[in-house]
Amino acid sequence: MSGAAITESKVLDALRSVMDPDLRRDIVSLNFVRNMKIEGGTVSFDVNLTTPACPVKDRLREQSRRAVLDHVPGVKDVLVNMTAEVRRPPAPETGRIRGVKNIIAVGSGKGGVGKSTVAANVAASLARSGATVGLLDADIYGPSIPIMMRSQDEPEIKDQVIQPVNAHGVKLMSMGYMSGEMPLIWRGPMAHKALQQSLLGVNWGELDYLVVDLPPGTGDVHLTLVQTVPVTGAVIVSTPQDVGLQISMKTLRMFQQTKVPLLGIIENMSYYICPHCGGRDEIFGHGGAALAAESLGVPFLGEIPLDPAIRKHSDAGLPVVLAEPESASARALAEAAGKVAQQVSIQAFRSIPLTIVEE
Ligand SMILES: Nc1ncnc2c1ncn2[C@@H]1O[C@H](COP(=O)(O)OP(=O)(O)OP(=O)(O)O)[C@@H](O)[C@H]1O
Ligand SMILES: [Mg+2]
Repeated sequence: MSGAAITESKVLDALRSVMDPDLRRDIVSLNFVRNMKIEGGTVSFDVNLTTPACPVKDRLREQSRRAVLDHVPGVKDVLVNMTAEVRRPPAPETGRIRGVKNIIAVGSGKGGVGKSTVAANVAASLARSGATVGLLDADIYGPSIPIMMRSQDEPEIKDQVIQPVNAHGVKLMSMGYMSGEMPLIWRGPMAHKALQQSLLGVNWGELDYLVVDLPPGTGDVHLTLVQTVPVTGAVIVSTPQDVGLQISMKTLRMFQQTKVPLLGIIENMSYYICPHCGGRDEIFGHGGAALAAESLGVPFLGEIPLDPAIRKHSDAGLPVVLAEPESASARALAEAAGKVAQQVSIQAFRSIPLTIVEE
């Protein structure tokens, strides 16, 4: 044998050059590298990311492989196994739903901009990537998630705890299930109680993400949500029309005032892809949300086309990300879901003090 032996510390040193672009720290100081094995010239290890929906997973895998191959003498082969474990944000222990790591609120100022569509597709997409996901339809006045995520089941009560419905791999609960025949009286205190019950009285089990679809505006439901549980962050859905965006700003400020971090803005119905010629038409002059996000210093999470297929699949009860995962619209929604997950990861590391940072 010639040359010095391959050691774990040499491999770790090489891996310190691999940075997580969102957390802006290297994967070694983030403690992402696990289960290292060195057998002859072959090095294998796990890189344990903060979400299975990580958009830069493949890039990190390749960078890790190259770093070890290029910088540790004697290495012939590198096997990188990408794993993920969703972390919790540093939030107070009180008020937490046991087992639920992150709560993501989806809101908008205006009705009909596609909040429920985005919430359902983000939830389904995160679940498809391997995360455990719940979806709570908190729209007491017009619950639509049970239609978009159609399931044969109804929630059951076992030992005085509500069991959520399983819809396409997502645990689902809707205020629609609770309001039954009397939607008009779900106001004020009743709405408040119903939402609290949906959060705390449901057996959510272990969840990486609980996505909450809010009614439009900045009403009582938002306040009840933020007062009942620690919300990891909020996603604002907006359309390119200025009016929609203006009103969304109010929602944005409301979250800021209640100290809910903003995960970012998604522009929905951003542009139109002609189903006949495939041409792209920017009917409302798209891009307003991206500009608004930039000027506010809030992440921009993506733009979703106005696509009849999105509505068709929603109406049929199966979100487009599951029904036609390879379509352009599904890819745009999945990409946005990945960005949401990235921002949630950033929240989890928000107040962890920097340890060793090596550039
Ligand atoms: N990108 C899109 N392309 C085509 N249709 C869409 C798109 N997004 C949403 N829709 C359709 O627009 C309608 C309104 O969407 P959705 O119910 O998701 O909006 P909302 O903001 O939740 O509304 P509300 O304020 O009533 O809760 C639905 O019929 C939905 O299928
Ligand atoms: Mg809705």
